[in-house]
Amino acid sequence: MASIVEEPVSIPTSTSDSAWAPASWRGRPTLQQPTYTDAAELEQALIKLSQLPPLVTSWEIFRLKELLAEAAAGKRFLLQGGDCAETFDDCSSPLISNRLKVMLQMSLVLVHGLQMPVVRVGRFAGQYAKPRSADLETRDGVSLPSYRGELVNDAAFNAAARRADPQRLIRGHAHSAMTMNFVRALIDGGFADLHHPEYWDLAWVRHSPLQDEYGRMVEGIGAALRFMETLAGQPIGSYQRVDFYTSHEALVLHYEEALTRQVPRQDGWFNLSTHFPWIGMRTAQLDGGHVEYFRGIRNPVAVKIGPSVTPDQLLRLCDALDPRRAPGRLTLIHRMGADKIEQALPPLLAAVHRAGRAPLWVCDPMHGNTESVSNGYKTRRFGNIRRELDCAFDVHAASGTHLGGVHLELTGENVTECLGGARDLTENDLARAYKSTVDPRLNYEQSLELAMLIVRKRGSARA
Ligand code: PEP
Ligand code: CO
Repeated sequence: MASIVEEPVSIPTSTSDSAWAPASWRGRPTLQQPTYTDAAELEQALIKLSQLPPLVTSWEIFRLKELLAEAAAGKRFLLQGGDCAETFDDCSSPLISNRLKVMLQMSLVLVHGLQMPVVRVGRFAGQYAKPRSADLETRDGVSLPSYRGELVNDAAFNAAARRADPQRLIRGHAHSAMTMNFVRALIDGGFADLHHPEYWDLAWVRHSPLQDEYGRMVEGIGAALRFMETLAGQPIGSYQRVDFYTSHEALVLHYEEALTRQVPRQDGWFNLSTHFPWIGMRTAQLDGGHVEYFRGIRNPVAVKIGPSVTPDQLLRLCDALDPRRAPGRLTLIHRMGADKIEQALPPLLAAVHRAGRAPLWVCDPMHGNTESVSNGYKTRRFGNIRRELDCAFDVHAASGTHLGGVHLELTGENVTECLGGARDLTENDLARAYKSTVDPRLNYEQSLELAMLIVRKRGSARA
């Protein structure tokens, strides 16, 4: 295995630049923050949080940075996925293991089809905070603070539930730790063993239209593995486990700051709540608190890029977040919408390319394709998700850049939240199993189908 990339500290640290500190974001306008009514209660929670153990280590962070650098260079593909928002109730054995199963199955399809290693990053173990379009929600003339995710408040529509509760910061950390602990245990215990892909089967999909194709692929891989082990005369240990990393939108900066730590024998600061935090589209202002916070941490970082970002803004964001152009440091996740990507993406790709930058480009085909249908449900059409992803591959190919990954909202449950896909879900199906408190997710079949479509698309692009 290649050695850890030890780049020089690419960002200001407290010792080399007194202008940055884990708390320096507090001096900047910072959007999407909860309003805490009791400053002393918040301070106490933050002190407690800052004493709790971290959730990830600096060497895992460096390793991921190295893998992301390989993805940017076209040698790997990033699969990043999970819930739009986790809830504390979702922190349960079946939900976590089903989500892991889907990600493992998708990554198997991608590795096999793309003939390329995959970096697996979960949108979980910390995805508890959501940006909202308004600070207040009004129902029947009553206005209350908007639901901002379980790290902040509760979705129920009453004053007590909607209060921003600092204790939730600590509960968020605990639920992240429990999720992470279970995922690590499953993976270390052989759950991801390629010799046993049947561990990842989900009972309800036995009759899925996609099962046959997937089954044939798994059989082929099993035969190849047995052949190689016969040749080697022993089991090949590296097929018994995989690496799995975590990510979340680092939105509530008090939480992120409390988990920003220094570690022995390393310069600078690390966000040790997750391997790979990202800045959401609504909080990527150049002079805002989020960019200020992110520029000072040593993790690989991502930013969501929407259709209204200009080339100039994007270049300035790149300079702020990755001044030294460190391999693997910066990922740009574009989320334009199927109808806008063809217009909006090429000028951005051209500007970044001309500036001599080679970030990891990732397509999020979910967030630009959300719509409300006549029965009131917020949904996404599989056809639009697929169209945006297809178009992303084409636009990158035409621009001389490289699409190195996808960012998806998905679940291993049999939900009916997105329309279309192999079972052609219709608006009438939405009510049957719509469970998301925020954005609609791909269910297992739709996720697997998308992985197969990526393979076909890349295959046809190469031919
Ligand atoms: C999200 O990822 O759930 C989200 C809110 O995305 P975006 O910032 O791209 O709108
Ligand atoms: Co979302």
